[in-house]
Amino acid sequence: MPFVTALTERLGLTHPIIQAPLAGGADSPDLIAAVGEAGALGCLGATYLTPAQIRATTAAIRDRTRRPFGINLFAPAAQPVPPNDMRAAVARVAPYYAELGLAPPPAPTATANPFPELFAAALESGARVFSFTSGLLPDDAIAAAKARGMFLIGTATTPEEAKALERSGVDAVVTQGAEAGGHRATFSGAPETGLIGTLALVPQVVDAVTIPVIASGGIMDGRGLAAALALGASGVQMGTAFLASAESGAPSAYKQAIYGARAGDVRLTRAFSGRPARCIANRFTTEMEAAESGAILPFPWQNNLTKALRAEAAKQNRAEFLSLMAGQGAALARGEGAAALIERLDTEATLALNRPLRR
Ligand SMILES: Cc1cc2nc3c(=O)[nH]c(=O)nc-3n(C[C@H](O)[C@H](O)[C@H](O)COP(=O)(O)O)c2cc1C
Repeated sequence: MPFVTALTERLGLTHPIIQAPLAGGADSPDLIAAVGEAGALGCLGATYLTPAQIRATTAAIRDRTRRPFGINLFAPAAQPVPPNDMRAAVARVAPYYAELGLAPPPAPTATANPFPELFAAALESGARVFSFTSGLLPDDAIAAAKARGMFLIGTATTPEEAKALERSGVDAVVTQGAEAGGHRATFSGAPETGLIGTLALVPQVVDAVTIPVIASGGIMDGRGLAAALALGASGVQMGTAFLASAESGAPSAYKQAIYGARAGDVRLTRAFSGRPARCIANRFTTEMEAAESGAILPFPWQNNLTKALRAEAAKQNRAEFLSLMAGQGAALARGEGAAALIERLDTEATLALNRPLRR
């Protein structure tokens, strides 16, 4: 029984379900198109792509489906001052490069502010939705997306961030609970101030804003969808469940790590990117965290320093060097195709909401 909500009505969806943007390649055109064809909203995490890659990937999505899809970027942020000595960090990862048969990495560089050109490509992409994380959008970007008729979604980890996003003019807000896989989206305080669980966060944000609220973090099945709707959300955004699905572009070692994860293995780490991200712990995160301070650079330098290592590990299917970003619900992933997952979410949520109270 498909659920009708403000989100399904505004975007013409059959199901109040968004496949989270999965920057790094899991959100393949096949996945985004399959999600769209099944009546939910697929999203492309474009933050690590070049403008040319955005154009090629969104063309591939449009070749596969006429259904709406979303595109997502990290909000523009003031670039931190480059670290003046990167030698310890480079030396720290060099043995891992050697282990994969790669030459030692050079000191990483970082583009000053990639947002304007990525945003320009996103505006031209044909996406119905523009979503963003880790900050607010400047007024001119909000106006430009609206002039294109795009539906705007920001990401909040506290009720205060949700209110700031509403004031800025977004059409809906995603709540990112502490359970969520991937980078923490917190933008208005230290990362630990935004570690509020979905069960506590969603109703507080629903009470704080008048725009539709989309719950994310730890939602893996129809029970989670039902719970989010019961808390007042107009829909859910799910990352880990779609990351593990058949059409996802994640390497098979990554998917296997998700199926085998225990909730306690899923931790916050800065080891791969320099920003706190929830990942399945592996050899790289464990050893890097044990290293002396100064061995992990700030974002985006650490991210760029580990990029070639992660790419080679994906080729060699070596999970111990992959950034295994996943949420606390990882072990609930089944790995079916996206359409089957969406169908199951609908059936299970209907059952959960109609279940007799006594169990
Ligand atoms: C591999 C991975 C990549 C992600 N990339 C992005 C991204 O580029 N932009 C974004 O807004 N959220 C991103 N997220 C976070 C999701 O939007 C969402 O908050 C999270 O997946 C929800 O928790 P769940 O994984 O438990 O479903 C990513 C999550 C994962 C697991």
